Amino acid sequence: MIPRQPEPELMLEPAQARAYAEADFAAPHEGFVDAFAEVFPGPVTGPVLDLGCGPGDVSLRFAARYPDCEVDGLDGAPAMLAAGDALMAGHPAARRVHLAEGCLPAARGPRAPYATIISNSLLHHLHDPAVLWQAIRRDGAPGAAVFVMDLRRPDSTESVQALVAQYAADDPDVLRRDFEHSLHAAFTPEEVRAQLAAAGLDGFTVHVTSDRHMIIFGHLPGHR
Ligand SMILES: C[S@@+](CC[C@H](N)C(=O)[O-])C[C@H]1O[C@@H](n2cnc3c(N)ncnc32)[C@H](O)[C@@H]1O
Repeated sequence: MIPRQPEPELMLEPAQARAYAEADFAAPHEGFVDAFAEVFPGPVTGPVLDLGCGPGDVSLRFAARYPDCEVDGLDGAPAMLAAGDALMAGHPAARRVHLAEGCLPAARGPRAPYATIISNSLLHHLHDPAVLWQAIRRDGAPGAAVFVMDLRRPDSTESVQALVAQYAADDPDVLRRDFEHSLHAAFTPEEVRAQLAAAGLDGFTVHVTSDRHMIIFGHLPGHR
């Protein structure tokens, strides 16, 4: 297994943020909402917290799928939030999506405690992954539904290169470089299980869902 190589936490470069917001993430991001719906069947109502929301594509798709919810997105990178303006403009769910600048661990979801918390592709950016699990415990209501999706680290540099060639060959350089760095920065399912145990979240499930993704989900301790 190759060692983890952390990447910069915040995506601060405007060119990087623009390329990210313009990329076609329809399949993985709709897949995020599909996977949420499979794990947590039933309606979602009220405020939802999206940690590391970036330009808000997942926040919008989630709000579109669940018309009785509102999504509060939090991200530490002004460039990523600004890049989301174009996604928001004219989107039918935009009035129920509120993105705000805030850097974990200091920032809080503005309407905490939340009954639902989601996060896509934030975990591998964090130098200290405990920051995500602590923010979830802090901002989640007792029994809250928590759903996280992230990349997982391949076991060799050759596997990283093969995934970059398979999934990012036609992407702009900046995105291809980010994808490669992110695969090196990602955690393995075993590492995430250890993080969860340390955070008192050992009731959560870690599922490998593809050659490069995993989902992590469960209910926070306490009543539902
Ligand atoms: C790969 S992007 C994912 C964005 C979005 N969730 C999506 O799926 O499109 C990761 C995001 O996490 C943000 N981020 C990283 N570390 C953070 C921190 N400590 N606090 C808040 N946001 C952070 C980055 O700025 C970036 O926008």
